[in-house]
Amino acid sequence: MDPKYLTGIAEIDAQHTEIEEVAQAVIEAAAAKDTWHIVHYILVRLYELLRFHFAVEESVMSIVSFPEIADHKQVHKDILLTVERMKAASLDPKAFEHDESLKKQFSFLTHIVDHDKRFTEFVITRIPGLRQ
Ligand SMILES: [Fe+2]
Ligand SMILES: [Fe+2]
Repeated sequence: MDPKYLTGIAEIDAQHTEIEEVAQAVIEAAAAKDTWHIVHYILVRLYELLRFHFAVEESVMSIVSFPEIADHKQVHKDILLTVERMKAASLDPKAFEHDESLKKQFSFLTHIVDHDKRFTEFVITRIPGLRQ
């Protein structure tokens, strides 16, 4: 993972790293024109990782009373909806050959962790011992 995305909270960074690796696997499978069920399977895995990760973040935000929790939760919701749409689209075996917009959507996947900076900085001010 690019060091600029590291939050300093070990558990969050480990989850982000796994999410980024699986997102990269989706991009590579789609670029290699792997069969639709391979791409679909990786997207299902990505979706489950994100669901778990967002639930963890939202619990921590609630515990530390993060003031921007509503906005942050909305970003999570939007990302899950996008990945859900991609999951559904990947069921069409022809989707990756013809749909340029789908290919563009994949590029956002590796930046899925961008928006966490404000939240993790706030958490560290509340629980300073968390920073590695
Ligand atoms: Fe995150
Ligand atoms: Fe987040």
